[in-house]
Amino acid sequence: MAKEIGIALIGTGFMGKAHALAWGAVQPVFGTDTKPRLEILCDQPAERATAMADQFGFARASDNWRAAIADPAVDAVSITTPNKLHAEMVIEAAQAGKHIWCEKPLAVNLDEAKAMAKAVEQAGVAAVIGYNYTQNPTFLHAVELLQSGVIGRPIHFRGIVDEDYQADPKTPWTWRSLQAEAGLGVLGDLTCHLISMALRLMGPITVIGADMQTVHRTRPLEDGSGTAKVENEDIASALLRFENGAQGVISSSRVAWGRKNRLSFEVHGEKGMICFDQERMNELQLYVAEGAKSTQGFRTILAGPEHPHYGRFNPAPGHTLGFQDQKTIEAAAFLDMIAGRKSSGVGINEALAIEKIIHAIAVTANDTASHVSPD
Ligand SMILES: NC(=O)c1ccc[n+]([C@@H]2O[C@H](COP(=O)([O-])OP(=O)(O)OC[C@H]3O[C@@H](n4cnc5c(N)ncnc54)[C@H](O)[C@@H]3O)[C@@H](O)[C@H]2O)c1
Repeated sequence: MAKEIGIALIGTGFMGKAHALAWGAVQPVFGTDTKPRLEILCDQPAERATAMADQFGFARASDNWRAAIADPAVDAVSITTPNKLHAEMVIEAAQAGKHIWCEKPLAVNLDEAKAMAKAVEQAGVAAVIGYNYTQNPTFLHAVELLQSGVIGRPIHFRGIVDEDYQADPKTPWTWRSLQAEAGLGVLGDLTCHLISMALRLMGPITVIGADMQTVHRTRPLEDGSGTAKVENEDIASALLRFENGAQGVISSSRVAWGRKNRLSFEVHGEKGMICFDQERMNELQLYVAEGAKSTQGFRTILAGPEHPHYGRFNPAPGHTLGFQDQKTIEAAAFLDMIAGRKSSGVGINEALAIEKIIHAIAVTANDTASHVSPD
């Protein structure tokens, strides 16, 4: 008989629904020895919380996140609110002894992110941060391939993360454009995912050069009353050096027309190459320089039950998993961490390392801008 764990979920937007679905799926898919009990759904206003508790199958609704965290029936908290709320919610949950599954990025600035990591460490609770792309079976297999030496010593990492959700200058202004509410722009929203993958593939990173730009400096207000300033970057690029000696270059944009989730990388090795693109999340491209040159070429590896976690969902290769399945794998990783088992989830210190890199890119870019100014 699986042991029950009481869950509070805060937020019911894009990620709120993703966490709710994952909580519903994790036990049936993984047969975990812990069974989530959907205890409290928290959102504002109260009517929304009540309606979404009913839709998601939570026993109770609340518009008070502090009360939801403190509730004695709650053992673990899913935090899916906008970035500016992550720090106080995570710190309060840690101090209350509750386990934490929080969305990325950690916070709106590095000081808050460090305080969150400290609170989690001091409380000794489990914390997984929502870097779900690291949980994709295809990505986990890419890490295995690299570690097995199939492409030899990695010598070059090239990463791109592009979306077009801010490409249209007529897209209305939101909290994502405000430093106090979002923190960084594309770096905090998208680049952090690419860094989460680069770290797992290649190891520790030093930022050695960077540039960033706000392309659309104002956006129209939703109510048509005027425009508001965009305070953070739309595009950012950086030159990296990995501790293993490899060189890296990354580029990211939230204004890249046509790109929907082009979270992609190439790892060049001394004996071959591995390529991945999240828009084709069930495929890995592998080139190994062996055998007759006339037969060499990239081959496509389709995700299947031989790859980590895939077989939990279905037994048939090439039948494909989706974005939501990554969230279910992340929920299972969270339960593993709570139980003190080896976990594939991105923990608080790994998330802090990601945060340090995106902020180092921003600082380096500002520094570079002051050097290359035409006047
Ligand atoms: N891991 C990923 O792939 C991924 C994808 C998208 C967003 N995110 C992250 O998830 C977080 C949320 O993004 P989203 O797109 O789901 O946003 P959203 O706007 O769709 O949802 C935010 C939710 O938080 C609720 N909320 C706001 N203030 C609240 C409060 N004081 N108390 C209770 N509820 C409150 C809102 O009502 C809403 O339901 C962000 O940090 C974002 O960076 C992660």
